[in-house]
Amino acid sequence: MAERIEVLLTEAEVDKRIQEIGDQISKDYAGKQVHLVCVLKGGSFFMCELAKRISVPVSLDFMSVSSYGGDTKSSGVVRIVKDLDEPLKDKHVIVIEDIVDSGRTLSYLLDMLESRGPADVKLCTLLDKPDRRVVDVKVDYTGFEIPDEFVVGYGLDYDQKYRNLPYIGMVKFD
Ligand code: IMP
Ligand code: MG
Repeated sequence: MAERIEVLLTEAEVDKRIQEIGDQISKDYAGKQVHLVCVLKGGSFFMCELAKRISVPVSLDFMSVSSYGGDTKSSGVVRIVKDLDEPLKDKHVIVIEDIVDSGRTLSYLLDMLESRGPADVKLCTLLDKPDRRVVDVKVDYTGFEIPDEFVVGYGLDYDQKYRNLPYIGMVKFD
């Protein structure tokens, strides 16, 4: 079935909000270095744009976990596909996610990262679907709270497609 994409957040809205989060992080971490941990693949577009707008020193690392197949429903299974290259000891870690949905992925991930002895771990997500939360996770920086719609663009995919859209769109199947 062919799907249709409807704009939820324009490129300008997303860019403006990322600038605001970058400014906030730069203020909150004044005098420190932040270590951004990108959750692949979805978080990659957001992390690159955000990192460019942070004015304190930044280092980056990537990890990949899988919780979704080619479907729009959570499997509830979290698996580390690619681990970080660098240790987290004494670092000011900010986990960068595309979206927090059920919270299952993040809850697992944050516990695992905490156990590696960072100075602190914060969570920054471009999108949050609070209505869908199953596991409680504390989000420190949120781009936008959105309704319970399946969204794509800015790193988010539907069956690996649409990650490259420069805006956030809703997938419609009518
Ligand atoms: P959670 O563990 O249910 O919070 O799932 C988080 C992950 O599910 C995200 O990092 C995305 O990869 C994926 N996901 C959740 N909702 C959406 C959506 O609306 N569009 C695309 N991917 C989504
Ligand atoms: Mg993700």
